[in-house]
Amino acid sequence: MSADDAVYWDPYDPTFATDPYPTYRRLRQEAPLYYNAKHDFYAVSRYADVSRLPDWETFSSARGDILELIKSDMEIPPGTLIFEDPRIHDVHRRLLVRVFTPRRIAALEPQVREFCVRTLDPLVGAGRFDLVAAVSAQMPMRVIGMLLGIPEADQEAIRDSADENLRTAEGGQMDFKGGAVLSNEMIGDYIDWRKGNPSSDLMTDLLNAGFEDENGVTRTLTREEVLTYVTVVAGAGNETTGRLIGWMGSVLARHPQQRQELVDDPSLIPNAVEEVLRFEPPGPAIARYVTKDVEFHGQTVPAGSAMLFIIAAANRDEQRYPDPDRFDIHRAIGLQLTFGTGIHYCLGAALARLEGQVAMEEILKRFPRWDVDWDNAKLAQTSTVRGWEALPIIIG
Ligand code: HEM
Repeated sequence: MSADDAVYWDPYDPTFATDPYPTYRRLRQEAPLYYNAKHDFYAVSRYADVSRLPDWETFSSARGDILELIKSDMEIPPGTLIFEDPRIHDVHRRLLVRVFTPRRIAALEPQVREFCVRTLDPLVGAGRFDLVAAVSAQMPMRVIGMLLGIPEADQEAIRDSADENLRTAEGGQMDFKGGAVLSNEMIGDYIDWRKGNPSSDLMTDLLNAGFEDENGVTRTLTREEVLTYVTVVAGAGNETTGRLIGWMGSVLARHPQQRQELVDDPSLIPNAVEEVLRFEPPGPAIARYVTKDVEFHGQTVPAGSAMLFIIAAANRDEQRYPDPDRFDIHRAIGLQLTFGTGIHYCLGAALARLEGQVAMEEILKRFPRWDVDWDNAKLAQTSTVRGWEALPIIIG
């Protein structure tokens, strides 16, 4: 094979984003350890290789989990647990695990459903609407608000700026940056307000949780630390979950028979959500900084390298999933890599699944069939997520 025929993959090139899967297949087959000279990074694409992610002593998160961040050498603000290694990561994660309980997540279901009902009911009879603007861009941020305990009835009690932000969210404006919908300023206002108005929510627990910090001092979190935590949670849980809902809309439109099965038997929905997550993961790749020389397929990745673990490629590895390019709501999926693996495994996985399932149930109840207006659908890939920015659907 000549050099010209060698597989090339550039995560920043939008032409790959439309259908990256043929390139991923070639990477798995022809370059299981891939090196991109233009951007100077290594990448692995096979399920078995991506599964080495938990080795945090070799693959560090301390410089970020996004390629540009690692290359930029930027200083990471302290307390950003997604960008930390043990032991400090353990301290921060343990604290968040304590307040992010399965019971608390499960208890959100009625509120999540009520929000879906309120959002979807007015669209019945509309003929067409943009699924992303109507649901993806709204629901995840509102659910994070619910999780934090921002009560809708009490929203007025939070300062005007905060209220203003929420109105923007309700106005149907699409903003995927998250910050504008649940801004730092608003979260800060809410923290201050919640201090004086304790309740049984996550924020109250976070403000009161005593813990031993990295210096062995037992204390509670400072306002700044709480703000960082909540910003990380909001940043990690907003766009990703929004993209999942968008993918449900396009993948089910392309598989109308399976969609009909879900309408006929909603008990199949949880596994269907799992299969959408495998088939089109909202976060296609996770980056790490390589701290010591490490070997893949007989070649050495030198210490100091940046490395991408391509989840979206591992999810379609034929060694792991039979006929991986087939979407199959009945597939036995088992452990999957879409929420990461190891010490940074997504803290919001149960919440994202809950949102995905409730959204799918409520959408299918009202709209058992739809087509996508593909000419006006817009796919986008940023360095962290891939998914629909606009997905106009035609009901019928
Ligand atoms: C479909 C939706 C979601 C996907 C695909 C997703 C994916 C991921 C992935 C791959 C990681 C690991 C990153 C790494 O190893 O560097 C992660 C971590 C994390 N996720 Fe999610 N996530 C989703 C939803 C959520 C939600 C709803 C929340 C919270 C409300 C959340 C909170 C977090 C947090 C706090 C971490 C950091 C955990 C740690 O570093 O220990 N995620 N997520």
